[in-house]
Amino acid sequence: MTELQTEQHRRDFLYYATAGAGAVATGSAVWPLINQMNPSADVRALSSIRVDISDVEPGTQLTVSWRGKPVFIRHRNEEEIAQARSEDVSSLPDAVARNPNIPGEDPATDENRALPGHENFLVMIGVCTHLGCVPLGDGAGDFGGWFCPCHGSHYDTAGRIRKGPAPENLHIPTLSVSEGMILTLG
Ligand code: FES
Repeated sequence: MTELQTEQHRRDFLYYATAGAGAVATGSAVWPLINQMNPSADVRALSSIRVDISDVEPGTQLTVSWRGKPVFIRHRNEEEIAQARSEDVSSLPDAVARNPNIPGEDPATDENRALPGHENFLVMIGVCTHLGCVPLGDGAGDFGGWFCPCHGSHYDTAGRIRKGPAPENLHIPTLSVSEGMILTLG
């Protein structure tokens, strides 16, 4: 096995070894949905899924599986949004929005990362940008957002990396939202 293959294998192991723990940590209420949406290779392969997010209460997070990865759907409360918007973007470790739904290398403002038209929602791929673990949510870490326990990366309430080895903000998936708060991923 080459050095590159060894590294890839290690990354795969880290992701799969921690995905279960991350999912359980999101709470029993969402586990049936994760389980339902994560049963088989054909479901994982779906390029596009639709999720009704109208019942996600403020201050809670729904996690779904899309293309074999967890996607965090966070309905933020006012405090979380205010905290995210009070930060000086130029001082962030990663100042890029990491949002494929807006063109170019836009700055990592909360407005550029939140769900368009529903800025109390934040939708992100739940994979740490260091080595691929699944971060813990519900106000975890030093910045009240998400925390990756694998090597100690702290993300804020906009999912931006603030401390630790992760090089980039949590990525935003390709998405759109339609009437009735139906989120389409992909
Ligand atoms: S994989 Fe998240 S900090 Fe290393």
